[in-house]
Amino acid sequence: MAFMKKKIESTELPEVLPVHVGFIMDGNGRWAKKRGLPRSLGHVEGGKNFKKIMQYCKDIGIKYASFYVFSTENWKRPKNEIDGILKIMREYLDEVQMHLGDGVRAIFLGDKNAYPEDIKNRMIKLEQDTAHHSRLTVLLACNYGGRDEIAHATREIAELVKSGKLNPEDITEQTIAEHLYTAGLPDVDLVIRPSGELRLSNYLIWQCAYAEYYFTDVLWPDFSPEELNKALIDYANRGRRFGGI
Ligand code: IPE
Ligand code: IPE
Ligand code: MG
Repeated sequence: MAFMKKKIESTELPEVLPVHVGFIMDGNGRWAKKRGLPRSLGHVEGGKNFKKIMQYCKDIGIKYASFYVFSTENWKRPKNEIDGILKIMREYLDEVQMHLGDGVRAIFLGDKNAYPEDIKNRMIKLEQDTAHHSRLTVLLACNYGGRDEIAHATREIAELVKSGKLNPEDITEQTIAEHLYTAGLPDVDLVIRPSGELRLSNYLIWQCAYAEYYFTDVLWPDFSPEELNKALIDYANRGRRFGGI
């Protein structure tokens, strides 16, 4: 039965799982290039893998999974690549309930206004339709940048100060956190970046302040549940101190 996929035994998983796992879904372009395919097909494969990993996170009991879909800096890419990514987003948003399955809440991180009206409306509808789900919360970072998020939060806080609702001396870390796109959601425990790059690329920079980092050369479309298990085992063996001893 060599053709059968290896079943992932739950015993391979550590007891302690991170509450929030962040995925920087990088390497789609290189995955396609290696096969002589257009980059757009790499994004299609990356999208398929998003579904697989999201489902696996749900199956093993991860409560929050965030995915870096498109950064504020990715708008620098050629128009045809951006159009290809928007096309994939439309297809997903059309069939999204089927892709997400039961119990999944979806929240978008980033300014939705950068998207065409139809995509923006589908994003808002999805957030509303899934707001009551709690088994797995999926955070989709679309047109997201950590610096952009902090600038956005600062503008909101400045408005409160301007209108006399908030004193500058009362601004705490908590105030800032409450104005981020992730308000009310837990910080990242484990951030995973495939594709060999050793950087955050502006991903959840505030929320990753005390995250553990896991890097692998595997490209995102090849990042399998087995690869995720390796990251989770690695995570379970780390000592998190948060500045203590
Ligand atoms: C990540 O894959 C997807 C997006 C940034 C939208 P890339 O497209 O960055 O893939 P590489 O890094 O070129 O291989
Ligand atoms: C980060 O990947 C953004 C996403 C995965 C959506 P990039 O490919 O844009 O990052 P850099 O440019 O290599 O830092
Ligand atoms: Mg990249």
